[in-house]
Amino acid sequence: MEQTLHLSSADQSAELAISNGTIPAKDLRAFSTPDGPLATYDPGLLNTAAVKSSVSFIDGDAGILEYRGYPIEQLAENSTFLEVAYLLLKGELPNPAELAEWERDINEHRLLHENVKQVIDSLRYDAHPMGKMMAAVSSLHTFYPDSRVLDSPQARTRNSMRLLGKMPTIAAWAYRHSLGRHWVYPDDDRGYVDNFLHMMFHQNEKRRQMDPRLERAVEILFILHAEHEQNCSTTAVRTVASANNDLYTSTVAGIGALYGPLHGGANEAVLKMLREIGSVDNVPEFVEGVKSGKGRLMGFGHRVYKNYDPRARIIKAAADDVFEVTGVNPLLAVALELEKIALDDEYFISRRLYPNVDFYSGLIYEALGLPPEMFTVMFAVPRTAGWLAQWEEQVTDPEQKIVRPKQIYTGHRGLTYPDASA
Ligand code: ACO
Repeated sequence: MEQTLHLSSADQSAELAISNGTIPAKDLRAFSTPDGPLATYDPGLLNTAAVKSSVSFIDGDAGILEYRGYPIEQLAENSTFLEVAYLLLKGELPNPAELAEWERDINEHRLLHENVKQVIDSLRYDAHPMGKMMAAVSSLHTFYPDSRVLDSPQARTRNSMRLLGKMPTIAAWAYRHSLGRHWVYPDDDRGYVDNFLHMMFHQNEKRRQMDPRLERAVEILFILHAEHEQNCSTTAVRTVASANNDLYTSTVAGIGALYGPLHGGANEAVLKMLREIGSVDNVPEFVEGVKSGKGRLMGFGHRVYKNYDPRARIIKAAADDVFEVTGVNPLLAVALELEKIALDDEYFISRRLYPNVDFYSGLIYEALGLPPEMFTVMFAVPRTAGWLAQWEEQVTDPEQKIVRPKQIYTGHRGLTYPDASA
């Protein structure tokens, strides 16, 4: 059914075509107001579609997340991260031969130029690893100037594969730099996640092999974190890309956005919050504090999911598998009690606040022996696949333009510069 939106005032009227549940914002300009042509005011872009995308789909009310049409539950059950990255970047699942070639291609790019190592090494050992990651990724376009040639599909694909291959190495080296441990180079005989864990945790063993259940849990976390349509960091990537920037420079913006505690940084904040609460007995008092405005319940709430974050359900199950191997993290009891009390409380029910992807992921990372500062890094590595798929869409979509929103000006006008002699 075709719909139109009719706007009218005493002296004018306009008909706006509705398509895909939206009106073209620029058509509002046909309607004039005392302050100029009509526009929308939308802090946080709460109700504004700025792109067309076929990468992922979310139905927040129904708790549905799909990558290229495949439900996240099926991908988490059956896929590997690199297979999902292929799906996101190329639009379809690979056949076995395509997957083997893709794995070979990505894994070939795992090494870093030795000077990138120096970029990380030049920072303080206790600098936040997200800072080290931003510094390393921001240097990459200088090593690969072909990445600035946006109209070459071959250059775009080559550099996408490069960055996917290099992210685990950057993450692992940022971590080892904090510990003062030797850098571990990629091992050609290992797959993407296995090699990443090897580069992170290898000490002096002849051949370190993690329990396969732990490796699978990380693979699942990587799949769940790979993509999430127009979230804050993806919007940052697209915004920087809209000025015709290469994928490395655009990704740095994504890493920076993800670092924020309201976004990917929430997983680090959740663990700090659980430690601060300390024991189950303290949970009711903490929840009362949140309700009275003393901070937020980190890992709760989502702009889009209003019933349940489907990723949180899968992560909770993965956490159980991990704890079978590592023993139960004592903070799990605090998290479960928080969830129980919050899900039963009018404050959280009426605002439709539920655990999000970050509520349980930190407990898994901690069980693996990682410090909270590394949690958001563990998010950034797989999210790179989604950022790259969205970057590709951005730079190849003829409808896209440089991002340049409007503002409502609230300051002074036409002041006279003070006369210094007066
Ligand atoms: N704890 C307590 N109250 C909350 C929370 C929370 N976690 N989240 C939202 N609220 C309350 C707000 O105070 C507000 O209440 P009010 O109507 O009385 O003012 C209401 O719920 C709506 O909140 P908004 O901030 O308008 O919701 P928005 O959609 O803008 O924010 C966000 C979403 C940022 C995720 C928010 O829920 C939040 O801060 N959560 C905690 C941080 C977090 O876990 N972030 C990770 C999100 S997942 C991801 O990015 C990977």
